[in-house]
Amino acid sequence: VKKVTTNTLLKMKSAGEKIAMLTAYDYSFARIFDEAGVDVLLVGDSASNVMAGHDTTVPITLEHMIYHAQCVVRGVNRALVVVDLPFGSYQSNSDIALASAIRIMKETGGHSIKLEGGEEVAESIRRIVHAGIPVMGHLGLTPQSIYKFGTYTVRAKEEAEAEKLKKDALLLQEAGCFAIVLEKIPATLAKEVSESLTIPTIGIGAGNQCDGQVLVMHDMLGINNDFNPRFLRKYLNLHDQILGAVGHYVKDVRSGDFPNEQEQY
Ligand code: KIV
Ligand code: NA
Repeated sequence: VKKVTTNTLLKMKSAGEKIAMLTAYDYSFARIFDEAGVDVLLVGDSASNVMAGHDTTVPITLEHMIYHAQCVVRGVNRALVVVDLPFGSYQSNSDIALASAIRIMKETGGHSIKLEGGEEVAESIRRIVHAGIPVMGHLGLTPQSIYKFGTYTVRAKEEAEAEKLKKDALLLQEAGCFAIVLEKIPATLAKEVSESLTIPTIGIGAGNQCDGQVLVMHDMLGINNDFNPRFLRKYLNLHDQILGAVGHYVKDVRSGDFPNEQEQY
């Protein structure tokens, strides 16, 4: 198979081909998503929420992210693997940011890293890119700053924040990012940013004029019934399907129906 590279994504943008990105945190799902043709697999720090059960992405560590990335990489043949730098692994200074990015590349076999923010992380991005590590940016709703914002509502609805986001997007492109995630911002703003950049934008809750889309696997597969933002399209209701299947199994064990004669040695 022809592997997806950062160059592939740039070409897809030029050709007007949309990029499909999805999160993954383990080997078994990564294998299926790769087989299904997902172009980019994001080992998101959303693992903090969906894998570990935390309320925010703040607690997850670099060691945890490395473990998830190692698992995902083993399941991938074609997709580009992007690994989130977690909170605390890059904000202090660009030496620490670079060291964290290098650990991800050396220890996981992932192909690139992602970090949140604009101007304040531009120097770190420049240094990581100079070290030969592709970087994806992330603007708009940046969950690692949840305690600064206080809510997970739509970002950059006001003119000042929209102007700042447009500037940051250009800065990230200049710093060498190969793509930028735009999370939960008005569709008109995302369209404007996408048209202003040569690198692709990947939207989540940012309308359909982005160059690609990303969703959290647990959300789009309907594993969690309690998370229903407007931007989310649910392709399955795995919560109900798994609840039914496992309930059935429990019933069969209790009744002695499982295992039957064909299911034993
Ligand atoms: O961690 C994550 O899942 C993400 C996506 C929502 C873009 O950063
Ligand atoms: Na993330």
